[in-house]
Amino acid sequence: MQATWRRSSRGLLEQSLALASLRSIYPLSSSECGVDHPRYVSTISVKGTGHILRKGTGGRSSVSGIVATVFGATGFLGRYVVQQLAKMGTQVLVPFRGSEDSHRHLKLMGDLGQIVPMKYNPRDENSIKAVMAKSNVVLNLIGKEYETRNYSFEEVNRDMAEQLAVIAKEHGGIMRFIQVSCLGASSSSPSRMLRAKAEAEEAVLMEFPEATVMKPGVMIGTEDRILNRWARFAKKWSFLPLMGDGSTKIQPVYVVDVAAAVIAALKDDGTSMGKVYELGGPEVFTVHQLAELMFDVIREWPRYVKVPFPIARAIASPRELLLKKVPFPLPNPEIFNLDQINALTVDTVVSENALTFSDLGIVPHKLKGYPVEFLTCYRKGGPAFGSTISERIPTEF
Ligand SMILES: NC(=O)c1ccc[n+]([C@@H]2O[C@H](COP(=O)([O-])OP(=O)(O)OC[C@H]3O[C@@H](n4cnc5c(N)ncnc54)[C@H](OP(=O)(O)O)[C@@H]3O)[C@@H](O)[C@H]2O)c1
Repeated sequence: MQATWRRSSRGLLEQSLALASLRSIYPLSSSECGVDHPRYVSTISVKGTGHILRKGTGGRSSVSGIVATVFGATGFLGRYVVQQLAKMGTQVLVPFRGSEDSHRHLKLMGDLGQIVPMKYNPRDENSIKAVMAKSNVVLNLIGKEYETRNYSFEEVNRDMAEQLAVIAKEHGGIMRFIQVSCLGASSSSPSRMLRAKAEAEEAVLMEFPEATVMKPGVMIGTEDRILNRWARFAKKWSFLPLMGDGSTKIQPVYVVDVAAAVIAALKDDGTSMGKVYELGGPEVFTVHQLAELMFDVIREWPRYVKVPFPIARAIASPRELLLKKVPFPLPNPEIFNLDQINALTVDTVVSENALTFSDLGIVPHKLKGYPVEFLTCYRKGGPAFGSTISERIPTEF
């Protein structure tokens, strides 16, 4: 009886002209639940060993077949990567080393049981193996732009990446490994972190030749560590120190685009395997121009103090000299970070023949507009306060 009712309902539906437009939005298949339509299948394709089982429509509540361990998921980029992974039905294992608070914002990004926080110790090989045991994709987003008493640049940015690649290879079932490095990472960089990142890229590709390396420029977004810091400093002291004369060229990129690039690399047919991508935004800025953009959005008059590199280094050096000599932790560097000051002595832009966003089918966002809108929270009179610089300077006719 029910079967007859279903058959006749479907017949009515097929004939109904009124529903024709609806069908173009939500295509109904004559076969099983629309599995013949691309919208209903996971588009992730993975080369290598193993077998991927997919189920559902390709959305948050489906099963993409990917079980991804995301090292560094608790960081800035991590939240956007986890969100985009979860959105397509991927189970995400989140290794964390700090408190339970470090990952709780991630739990909300997936269905019940989809985001799985797992306590681990980055110095314990067995604990790393445990968080990788059930996965078939590994993403390494671990990185640090300053040294701490416990971890050197080399340990965090190079040794950990290498160790993850070795363990992933030994695992045997890891089909994709994505290593997030930095634009400008090179063995000749004046920055120790960027040199360590370059060594990490080499080590990862040596241990896991199918890995994909992503090298984003400085990332911009709600939780970024450049525009937020500048805005806080400018609000507090009414000026912004510019390292050198602010003429160093950088290519900042919207963090959501970087996360999209990571997902695009996972979703491709394997062409990104073993490749290195340089992910810079669509515009090259000087540090001064980026600061102007920040001042424009927070609607404060731009005032700068140009700090020549030797003086900036002199201001930043005491922390680095004392870090391991005093028996207590020192504050983390913000604006005056010695290694970042060194990095700023050279331009950091996408190199000429590099693979970029376009090779992953992504058009990166311009920064002006939505990507920097979060800075409106720094306007002293609320989001509608004041006028932009261009509005304040009268145009001459
Ligand atoms: N932010 C940028 O502008 C930028 C630009 C280019 C490239 N990158 C690179 O992109 C990646 C992600 O950047 P991000 O801004 O998201 O970094 P982030 O916010 O600083 O997060 C870094 C992640 O690494 C983890 N981590 C740091 N030190 C660790 C250690 N000693 N042991 C284990 N885990 C450790 C952190 O875990 P805890 O939460 O436990 O500390 C956190 O999950 C990094 O490799 C970074 O170098 C960043």
